[in-house]
Amino acid sequence: MKKFLSCHDAGDFQSLIAQALEFKKNPLKSVHLGQGKRMGLLFLNPSMRTRLSTEIAAKNLGMDVIVFNVGQDGWAFEFEDEAIMSGTTVEHVKDAAPILGKYFDVLGIRTFPSLKNKQDDYSELYINQFIKYAGVPVVSLESATLHPLQSLADLITINENYTEKRKPKIVLTWAPHVKALPQCVANSFSQWINAWGGADFTIAHPEDYELDPQFTNGATITHNQDEALRDADFIYVKNWSTYQDYGKIYCNDPEWMLTTEKIATTRNAKVMHCLPVRRNVELSDEILDSTSSIVTQQAVNRIWAAQAVLAELLKK
Ligand code: CP
Repeated sequence: MKKFLSCHDAGDFQSLIAQALEFKKNPLKSVHLGQGKRMGLLFLNPSMRTRLSTEIAAKNLGMDVIVFNVGQDGWAFEFEDEAIMSGTTVEHVKDAAPILGKYFDVLGIRTFPSLKNKQDDYSELYINQFIKYAGVPVVSLESATLHPLQSLADLITINENYTEKRKPKIVLTWAPHVKALPQCVANSFSQWINAWGGADFTIAHPEDYELDPQFTNGATITHNQDEALRDADFIYVKNWSTYQDYGKIYCNDPEWMLTTEKIATTRNAKVMHCLPVRRNVELSDEILDSTSSIVTQQAVNRIWAAQAVLAELLKK
């Protein structure tokens, strides 16, 4: 593994999951692997789970870690090649990334989508510019369109919570939100579940919230949430803004919020969310505070997902 941007960089999912679960049992089992190596964690937007879990994971592997909140503490980056920098951007990624590549052995980067320019966002301009100019392995801590460390943690959590012989029914359902959010988590979860192939996978969303088919192809897609939830083993709740007419909120129907009543037709489904969650907007208190919710387990598994990925990178 030389970079980690999507499920395509993960190699064999089952062996990565097994490695993560080994680290969960014995966090310091490879504490010498990263000794003498330094990881830089760059955040262009806020984070709690990704920042802390990746720092813990790197330290468990013996790495030195420095977190840099670029969005807050750094100069505003320019990402466009040949830009005339007479506006608000101060430092070109072409100048900054090679320096960061000398300071660090591995870079973790959280970028973000503009939700205005679909072409730029879906070309992953920001993270690809870092890869182009840094010259060291880059791990996505969430990019404009994907959140691979989150999805690996999600898959680990599903594996831990499922013991039946038959394939689980997994439902990704859209939920209302007060802000226009990226499609990253939904894209990434769809991409990983489809590539994993171990599930009967359904996506439910209101009309106009179709995701990019490059990630969802292979799933059953419906606008009927009740029908989708029937017999579900896992329900992943997430809001996203529109993909076609990019970055908009069309419908924000509160009826799409998941409630205890709605999960009555499931097979005692476990409820997932990447967090942070808007309580009683996306998901009701009664679900989040019940034994159906596995959101804390998911968030804790972010450590073991990151540790498994960093261990693979360090071995190379
Ligand atoms: N799920 C997730 O990425 O959380 P943070 O934004 O807190 O990192």
